[in-house]
Amino acid sequence: MLASIEVAFKGLLSCLQSLKMYGAAHPMFQKSLDKAFEAFADVLASRQEMTIGIVGEELAFEKEILFDLAKFLRPAILYLKERNIERIAFYSGLSKEELAKFVSFIAKPKEDFKGDLQASLSLTGIEHISIGKLKVDMQQNRNVFALAQSELYDSSADMVGRALSGVLNSEKIDHLGLKFSLSNIMENLSSQRQEMLKLATVKRYDVETYTHMLNVSIFSMYFSSRLGFDKTDILNIGVAAMYHDIGKLSISRRILHKPGQLTDQEFGRVKSHTLLGAQIMLKYVNTLGILPVVICFEHHLKYDSSGYPRLPFLRKQHIASLIVAICDVYDALSQRRGYKQDYSPDVVYNIMNRDKGSAFNPVLLDKFFRIMGLWPVGAVVALNDGSIALVRGQNESDIRRPKIEIVSPQDKKRLVDLTQDATLSIERYLNPWKEGKEYLRLV
Ligand SMILES: [Fe+2]
Ligand SMILES: [Fe+2]
Repeated sequence: MLASIEVAFKGLLSCLQSLKMYGAAHPMFQKSLDKAFEAFADVLASRQEMTIGIVGEELAFEKEILFDLAKFLRPAILYLKERNIERIAFYSGLSKEELAKFVSFIAKPKEDFKGDLQASLSLTGIEHISIGKLKVDMQQNRNVFALAQSELYDSSADMVGRALSGVLNSEKIDHLGLKFSLSNIMENLSSQRQEMLKLATVKRYDVETYTHMLNVSIFSMYFSSRLGFDKTDILNIGVAAMYHDIGKLSISRRILHKPGQLTDQEFGRVKSHTLLGAQIMLKYVNTLGILPVVICFEHHLKYDSSGYPRLPFLRKQHIASLIVAICDVYDALSQRRGYKQDYSPDVVYNIMNRDKGSAFNPVLLDKFFRIMGLWPVGAVVALNDGSIALVRGQNESDIRRPKIEIVSPQDKKRLVDLTQDATLSIERYLNPWKEGKEYLRLV
């Protein structure tokens, strides 16, 4: 069903294009109109209505985001947004004439789109199409949006899975598709970063290696964007970060997940994932550039070069490796693992700060926690007055006092900026798999 909706929408866009290029009387326009109408008739044969909405920067149909339209999306979304159109509904009974009129209607210059759009559309005699703003209340809108973000994360996780297994099998990978998924995430990190980071916090609990890869990629992109890198660099760091542990996928899971101490030989195997990864990524220099090779090689080197692989000479690491090294350890420590106790965010903070200046560049590490906060967005925390809250946003001025939303008890429900309320403080973190579970659905 989704595929035919995409075909219909693409058809509509190409009608608009050919109208602008050739005019309504030209056979090219008629041809694209015929094609688009056929697609709409096809969709509306099995349903009463088809409504397309613009949610954030994406096009959505009901609860699905139309990702495959993405390459066409940006200009089309901008075009419609400039015309104050956030929602288009097509109803069964739609005629080809109405569709043609509608294409002419949206082809008008943006200055014409003021006032009651639906009224002006009706004046043209179109009965089976309606347009306007999204008719959802804020709460519902938020849910749709959260869902859109979650879809984005899942579809990217999917893409990551494919891109990783492609590399492992020495296949060609869809590097454009991969970059596109990550750049979508990157765009959303700037506009809706809290939502995206929240997902990286929550979704890490699906313990697969690729989830770790995607999380490290998201954190690295977010961190480098906050450090002021430009978009191309951020995307390159994101792609490279995604492959940082690719070498691990060819090491036996028995060793990787062995409870207890590894033998020297086993530890040697684990360490070899840096070199293995660099070798694998060398094959993709043409499409992904050299940065993935560099990061595979350097991400365990440590700031003071005491890590691995051992080098015969001191070598300054690439800044991207220093960034990924922080995000990597941050995600690995926070991630629930079968063989070790789940660490709460304050413990992760303490462990990482113990290695400040040795494993991690001290300036970068401080900056990282100022940005991420001690308690990450999405964390469930208990306050000193016994109430339960979710972390909603950070305060760089005090990493221990984020913006929170008290969710329990009922009568205390409200948003609080902890830097503005000295009476309240965070006492402890509730594990989202144990005592925090019932509140997690509120995230
Ligand atoms: Fe690694
Ligand atoms: Fe890693």
